[in-house]
Amino acid sequence: MKSKRKIIVANWKMNPISFDEAKKLWSKSIKKIEETERISVIISPPYPYLTGLKKPNSKKIYLGSQDCSFERSGAYTGLVSPTMLFDIGVSYVIVGHSEVRKRGDTDEIVNKKMHSVIDSGMNVIVCIGEEKRNDNGEHLLFLKEQIEKTFKGINKNNYKNIIIAYEPVWAIGASSAMDSHSIYETSLFIRKIITEKFKIPLRSIPVLYGGSVDQDNCKNIVKDGDVDGLLVGRQSLDIKSFTDIVSALDF
Ligand code: PGA
Repeated sequence: MKSKRKIIVANWKMNPISFDEAKKLWSKSIKKIEETERISVIISPPYPYLTGLKKPNSKKIYLGSQDCSFERSGAYTGLVSPTMLFDIGVSYVIVGHSEVRKRGDTDEIVNKKMHSVIDSGMNVIVCIGEEKRNDNGEHLLFLKEQIEKTFKGINKNNYKNIIIAYEPVWAIGASSAMDSHSIYETSLFIRKIITEKFKIPLRSIPVLYGGSVDQDNCKNIVKDGDVDGLLVGRQSLDIKSFTDIVSALDF
């Protein structure tokens, strides 16, 4: 994926409830994305739909998974391995989403998943974000520690396979997104930590924002928040809102 394109990750979560609806949402989303010039979109449907949604031969559209196991194969009832995802054409895997962390994924598990996804030949979208913030800046220390633990053992050669999604947990599924100025400050802070850790240029790893993105706030978040793109939850399920977001970011 060309790094200068704006990146949109559509996280469908556990939706829609039928494969027919998923196919309709997929084809309408793809039609719109094909008309754009400066964005790349990673659509992440639930596992059962992954093989049935045919990815066009396009550099603008990628298939993503919402999670995976860090194990390759074996007696792990209910889990899906990165090797399997790679084999069916998945290019990106989201790890560390706060909804998965709430079900038990620690930074150590997220770290293992990161390694496993990259070792399996795919790219990883790693979600980070504080649960709360106040004026004393403790959230910055929290983010620093979360990045250190999550990126443990990841080396300089891996950075091309990584996208960071900064998602303040309190802004996910909320009534409004974080303000653009705070997004700007926080994304810069994240970029600096990554730059120091890997000794790579400041914008080598894309940083996205996620949390209550919609068609009205998306452009300002990217421009004023100075992020490389967005992770979109609810509004990726509404075709009108999603195509509006796709058009708004094609600048
Ligand atoms: P939301 O979800 O856009 O519905 O807030 C964001 C996310 O999945 O992280």
